Amino acid sequence: MSVLVTGGAGYIGSHTVAELVAHGESVVVLDNLRQGHRAAVLQAPLYVGDIRDTALVSEILRKHEVDTVVHFAAHSLVGESVQKPLDYYDNNVNGTAKLLSAMLENGVKRIVFSSTAAVYGEPVRTPIDEADPTVPTNPYGETKLAIERMFRWCHDAYGLQSVSLRYFNAAGAHPTLAIGEDHSPETHLVPIVLQAALGQRPHVAVFGNDYPTSDGTCIRDYIHVMDLASAHRLAVARLRSGDGGCEAFNLGSGTGYSVQQVIDVAREVTRRDIPVQQAPRRAGDPAVLVASSGRAKEVLGWQPLYNDLATIVASAWNWHQSHPNGYADRTKPEEA
Ligand code: UFG
Repeated sequence: MSVLVTGGAGYIGSHTVAELVAHGESVVVLDNLRQGHRAAVLQAPLYVGDIRDTALVSEILRKHEVDTVVHFAAHSLVGESVQKPLDYYDNNVNGTAKLLSAMLENGVKRIVFSSTAAVYGEPVRTPIDEADPTVPTNPYGETKLAIERMFRWCHDAYGLQSVSLRYFNAAGAHPTLAIGEDHSPETHLVPIVLQAALGQRPHVAVFGNDYPTSDGTCIRDYIHVMDLASAHRLAVARLRSGDGGCEAFNLGSGTGYSVQQVIDVAREVTRRDIPVQQAPRRAGDPAVLVASSGRAKEVLGWQPLYNDLATIVASAWNWHQSHPNGYADRTKPEEA
């Protein structure tokens, strides 16, 4: 019995692989390495390939006796999704349909899915509850929501069991610093702020200071990547217990911090100068996104361990200081 992690060479995927392995799971990874890093896959065989390759997926499911899939593989850049919506529909929606076909053909009926706060669009209230309206404002969120809905129909038709985890803003690194965040290009606030602290960027562009928030900058809910990883482990356990059906959970800390607060905390943590430049609003950014994660705590038994922003930023800073060029120049483990 093992777990297939698609996209397991990516940021959240690789931390989830490490978490599952640390808890005694046998794990196998499928990743096309478009965004992921070979060196991020520790202690698990890696297949380099596409989730739309049903023959390859079937082979992996059979060879490794997979009983549950944890599915990260996707295009995940909001801005890019607006420019190339069809790529997002093909890779994310069609890719997941193909993955499900291979799973069902091989009798695998459990999937934990990497969903997003982007399924909500502009929230109707704060904090956001899972039952709140889902009205995505970009193709990325739209494709993730379409996949969640696909799970519902596959539950009714084929008995597919799914847990969709709607993440808010992931940050931080593995405590051993063996893995961390390394996107190219980097678009996320925390790594950008820390790259500025390291002098790798001249400044941080703050996208908008006229939002209806206390300091005018956007408020987000930052959650440590290891806390996301533990939620995936608990979701696998829930599916195996047979209690699940077709469920979705928010994953956030429940506390919002503004862009300005993130920069201030990063200045304290790093004791470095972080130059800032005001920039226009970024299209599609809601003013405030904060999760209500009570359901994940109650139903999954999830207990986030890294609850304050300074701890999360310090964890990310440790990684960035020790890996200023990310995974570049690292020794790569063997391909399966
Ligand atoms: N920001 C800046 N400057 C930057 C980068 C970001 O001011 O250089 C701001 C953004 O405008 C936003 C906040 O920092 O207000 C956080 O931005 P991120 O890009 O780090 O994260 P997002 O909140 O945009 O994105 C996250 C996830 C997405 C998900 C989205 C849902 O990373 O996958 O939430 O809205 F789709």
